Amino acid sequence: MTTTYAIAIGNTQERYRCRADQTLLGGMEQLGRKGIPVGCRGGGCGVCKVHIESGKTRCERMSRCHVSAEEEAQGYVLACRAYPRSDLALRAVDRMARCIERHLAPPPHPHP
Ligand code: FES
Repeated sequence: MTTTYAIAIGNTQERYRCRADQTLLGGMEQLGRKGIPVGCRGGGCGVCKVHIESGKTRCERMSRCHVSAEEEAQGYVLACRAYPRSDLALRAVDRMARCIERHLAPPPHPHP
């Protein structure tokens, strides 16, 4: 049986399960909600960039155009190239953040 891990998305307070052999992006897509940006799925477009706040991942090679060595050391990964190695918390950044936050439930204080 494949291990699955609990992933928490800081921006939207959502959680999902992700198998150890599934990318963080693949697991997130299974949430089936609007706004999950799916680009190349191959580490080339940078749309799926996230910051790992806690927990461990295993990453395949990522384009340095999108994640510099320094950023990688700080915990930034491309979700289509990263697999969970433990339960983890992540926060979407850049385009990914704009996409998923835009599709949240309506704001609590709508304009009159
Ligand atoms: S989907 Fe293009 S880099 Fe992840």
